[in-house]
Amino acid sequence: MKILMVCLGNICRSPLAEGIMKTKVPEGFLVDSAGTISLHEGEHPDKRAIKTAANHGIDISRQKSRPITGNDFETFDKIYCMDIDVFEDVVSKAKNETERQKVSLFLEALDHKNAEVPDPYWGDMNDFEKVFQLLEQGCAKISNQILK
Ligand code: 4NP
Repeated sequence: MKILMVCLGNICRSPLAEGIMKTKVPEGFLVDSAGTISLHEGEHPDKRAIKTAANHGIDISRQKSRPITGNDFETFDKIYCMDIDVFEDVVSKAKNETERQKVSLFLEALDHKNAEVPDPYWGDMNDFEKVFQLLEQGCAKISNQILK
């Protein structure tokens, strides 16, 4: 199983989701993350995201931001999007129905239809911690569904 987490910049939400999800799946699973913009390409996650993950014993410091590519729709089985803008952008890049079917909103797993993981980029450490908690719940649910 190959899982891709996607947000806007790939420096805050999806790197955290990647780090959390990796703690919940068995060896042999591929978990990666990407952004819909390339503004931060090559950069490590935001310092506040790195610190928040570290507070929970997860090291995301070596991740590097990259934009999503057409190839990702072939490589990955599931593509989880952090908010509706990201979802719409990602769906618009899918080349066919099979690729479109792989894309969903991350929080749909928690039955929060149309719910979004708020962007903590303009916020503070408290906002990053809240996002971490939301991602932790979502990843727990998704991993349970996948491993069932
Ligand atoms: P992310 O947060 O999508 O969770 O990585 C953001 C990071 C950077 C920007 C916006 C959101 N930005 O505008 O640079």
